[in-house]
Amino acid sequence: MVRVGRAESTDPLLGRPLSLHRTYGDGTFSLLYRVAGRGTRLLASRRVGDGIDILGPLGNGFPELPAGATGILVGGGIGIVPLVALAESLPARRIRVVIGARSGGALVCRGEFESLGVGLSVVTDDGSLGRAGNVVEALPAVVEEAGGGDRVFVFACGPAGMLRGLGDFLKTRGIRGVFSLEERMACGLGACLGCVAETRSGRRRVCLEGPVFPAEEIRWGMSEG
Ligand SMILES: Cc1cc2nc3c(=O)[nH]c(=O)nc-3n(C[C@H](O)[C@H](O)[C@H](O)COP(=O)(O)OP(=O)(O)OC[C@H]3O[C@@H](n4cnc5c(N)ncnc54)[C@H](O)[C@@H]3O)c2cc1C
Ligand code: FES
Repeated sequence: MVRVGRAESTDPLLGRPLSLHRTYGDGTFSLLYRVAGRGTRLLASRRVGDGIDILGPLGNGFPELPAGATGILVGGGIGIVPLVALAESLPARRIRVVIGARSGGALVCRGEFESLGVGLSVVTDDGSLGRAGNVVEALPAVVEEAGGGDRVFVFACGPAGMLRGLGDFLKTRGIRGVFSLEERMACGLGACLGCVAETRSGRRRVCLEGPVFPAEEIRWGMSEG
């Protein structure tokens, strides 16, 4: 949780959730964010040497890639950001990456994945970069190539609509996976219940018990919002 307004005032009072984009093994890390509103605009106005409050890392993070499986990393929009750290933690030969955005100009992190040398598929809604369509439409070919079924494991992050479609696809194909949810957050510490998602084992706080959940656990009808 990144809070940027403290130096001048308590506005914006609440932190903004941002993912770890890359970690460097020496306690340093990078964030990558899109300027969406007031909080991220303030953050973007910070200069080298300015202080910001950061609380974290919070939440559970991605699980290990099951032995013998190929990891398929699927990211949409700004949900691509945390998949870079995940990709860097896994052997390139054991993963494939599928990323998508509305248009080529909105697609982030392509260069990072290319420099890792991983198998990369790019899709855009308007076809301005890569193939036209969405990440779910691009997935069957990638899954087949990796052996399908038990031989693949999906790690995904992106908007609710994308994850819901992906969840249906995984269920139909009998593929395991985990989704990192992008619920709105307030406290980030499990206290306010502002980020609750409905799962098959009850209501779960995305900031504390998530943001990563087994794909089949998420009840979309209620948590999509
Ligand atoms: C676990 C998690 C990780 C995230 N990681 C990143 C990241 O690495 N990089 C990044 O750029 N963004 C990330 N986000 C989204 C980011 O937190 C929001 O864009 C940010 O809080 C917006 O704050 P703001 O004050 O700039 O905008 P606000 O003024 O609060 O909102 C601006 C617009 O963004 C919408 N918005 C705000 N929060 C969300 C949200 N969670 N989901 C969908 N729409 C939202 C609002 O409805 C509004 O339309 C993440 C969100 C979560 C929950
Ligand atoms: S943001 Fe307060 S409980 Fe999750």
